[in-house]
Amino acid sequence: MKHSKKSHKEGRGSFSGRIGYVLAVAGSAVGLGNIWRFPYLAAKYGGGIFLLVYLLLTVSFGYVLIMSETALGRMTKKSPVGAFASFGNSFPFKLGGWLNAVIPILIVPYYSTIGGWVIKYLAEYLKGNVQEVAQDGYFTGFITDSFQTELWFLVFAALIFIIILGGVRNGVERMSKIMMPILVLLAIVTRPGALAGVKYFLIPNMKNFSFMTIVAAMGQMFYSLSIAMGILYTYGSYTDKDMDLEQSTTQIEIFDTGIAILAGLMIIPAVFSFSGGNPENLQAGPSLMFITLPKVFASMGIGTAAGILFFVLVLLAALTSAVSLMETCVSTFADEFHWSRKKCCVFMAVVMIVLGSASSMGYGALDFIQIFGMAFLDFFDFLTNSVMMPLAALATCFLILRVVGFKKISEETEQSSSFRRKKLYTVFLKYFAPICLIIIL
Ligand code: PFF
Repeated sequence: MKHSKKSHKEGRGSFSGRIGYVLAVAGSAVGLGNIWRFPYLAAKYGGGIFLLVYLLLTVSFGYVLIMSETALGRMTKKSPVGAFASFGNSFPFKLGGWLNAVIPILIVPYYSTIGGWVIKYLAEYLKGNVQEVAQDGYFTGFITDSFQTELWFLVFAALIFIIILGGVRNGVERMSKIMMPILVLLAIVTRPGALAGVKYFLIPNMKNFSFMTIVAAMGQMFYSLSIAMGILYTYGSYTDKDMDLEQSTTQIEIFDTGIAILAGLMIIPAVFSFSGGNPENLQAGPSLMFITLPKVFASMGIGTAAGILFFVLVLLAALTSAVSLMETCVSTFADEFHWSRKKCCVFMAVVMIVLGSASSMGYGALDFIQIFGMAFLDFFDFLTNSVMMPLAALATCFLILRVVGFKKISEETEQSSSFRRKKLYTVFLKYFAPICLIIIL
């Protein structure tokens, strides 16, 4: 409020307060990752024991990385490239900053392709086509029809730009304040009662534990908390010095994990009972959301309503996440090249159309092009999540360990509150985070 006029004039937006900030970061974190990725990973890698490992990693490793990125963003008032450059101008700083900044530029086009698929399914449920979408081959028929996939991708992309052009407060914050409460409500409403599978998901059993449980839980934690994509730097840079960083971080983690657990409670029992109780039958990735679940809906009496509610939920989750990715891209260009918000949007629209169309048509008209044997969408997903994000997180750890120092992070945190988990933060960043990141790599 007191600073808003000035910062708007200078082109750097800001959140109006803590609630706006927490909901915007929660909006970023809660996405496709929570609704389809978390449930199938939990089912595949041990059920309750996966959940336990995931929770432990979230409150330790996840907490450390969220705090680090947000504090660096708020300290420098810059998105990732500028934040790294504030501490040095040599090549490693440039590399670390751009690594964090390029990730959302590569993710948002393919994320929006999937966003387009979600709108298409929602449109079909609204038309009452609950049986059609459940038919064998429907999904494959759709994703190989390049006209359709491109059309729905463009609809989703247009929604993102409408919100982004509204600015930080009127666009990102207002959207989050409206959509996140609806999302929570939908996540609670769409949950069927206790069925077989709930026990498997909630009660840890060491028999189901394997090394892959840790690796998968760690990868999912990154994905789900929107870590190492430049987002938290950017959103941190939009906050005031009196905003309690630790409390907000805790609330964001509770929000994100809560929705993931609700999604697990919704999907695992339903698909479990549908597929005869075998976790192996839980299909990974898109097939779960676009093939298996529609079959579950088609077998229910209230399939149309369930389908509509579910896909509205997924659409809201995907949209708020895509907006955070796009906001980070826009913010980087505005900071580094001093472009207007509009110019940044035009540039990103071109990038979106080129890379997003490649992803949208990658299973249809462009299926003759494969990168390392993968279609565009799978390639971008692999490149960003498995290769670039662990490296970007390592860059943040090294920036703090080698250059910024714990003292400055403490000072930044203590501007708004006492640093209650300082010990945990220091020990984790020093000893665990780099080792964990190398394991993921
Ligand atoms: N954290 C969000 C999700 O769980 O879907 C957004 C996200 C964006 C995740 C991009 C992963 C990703 F590569």
